[in-house]
Amino acid sequence: MRIVLKIGGSVIASPINPDLIAQYIALLKDLRAKGHEVAVVVGGGTLAREFIGIAKQLKLQEEAQDKIAISVSRLFAQLFLEKLGDIGCGAVPLTIEETAKCLSKGKVAVMGGLKPGMTTDTVAALIVKKVKADLLVKASDQDGVYDKDPRKYSDAVRFDHLSFETLSLVFTKDKHEAGIHQILDPEAIRLLRSRKAKVVVVNGFRPENVMTAVDGKRVGTLID
Ligand code: UTP
Repeated sequence: MRIVLKIGGSVIASPINPDLIAQYIALLKDLRAKGHEVAVVVGGGTLAREFIGIAKQLKLQEEAQDKIAISVSRLFAQLFLEKLGDIGCGAVPLTIEETAKCLSKGKVAVMGGLKPGMTTDTVAALIVKKVKADLLVKASDQDGVYDKDPRKYSDAVRFDHLSFETLSLVFTKDKHEAGIHQILDPEAIRLLRSRKAKVVVVNGFRPENVMTAVDGKRVGTLID
């Protein structure tokens, strides 16, 4: 199977968690040993936000702030690639095309951000589209998609299964709830919906959830 895995910066980098990163490296090796093709996108987490704060204090424009945050996410991508060694594509791809090329060589690609004005969710969705991936797994800091922000509402209910249509409705209804917003960027949803890709949002603090999703077993929220 061709898989894109988005690992939230909120999961591996807020604070930076070397043990968890090592667990993800082991997972990537397992996925590859099972014959899967994998492209990974990592976010920059609190370190990226810290740098955005510094850039703001220096009165840099939003585009420069984004570029700094992208560099931070690429730093995490490099960490992954150094640790992956031969099975990885060596350098961090700077474009979707480079990621596609890396996959076609049978290597694991690990990207950070792409360009200002987007999020790493959208980067993951662009890769899905480019390489016609079968599945996108988002390793998130929540257990899945809820009908409202679970950090604010104790009665929030998690969806086991959602269509893209219903997901869009949840967004329309709860546009103002930042928590919902964060679970999957709307631009990414639009791209994934047009591609008819299967998406699973899982709790990324347990990397084994990713394998469960790849094996087609029930975990987190399935969106299709
Ligand atoms: P993300 O929001 O994707 O990373 O990017 P995160 O916070 O680590 O991810 P999650 O929420 O845990 O999944 C952080 C910031 O980096 C800039 C944007 O400013 C974004 O808000 N960025 C990232 C870009 O400008 N372009 C990119 O392609 C990626």
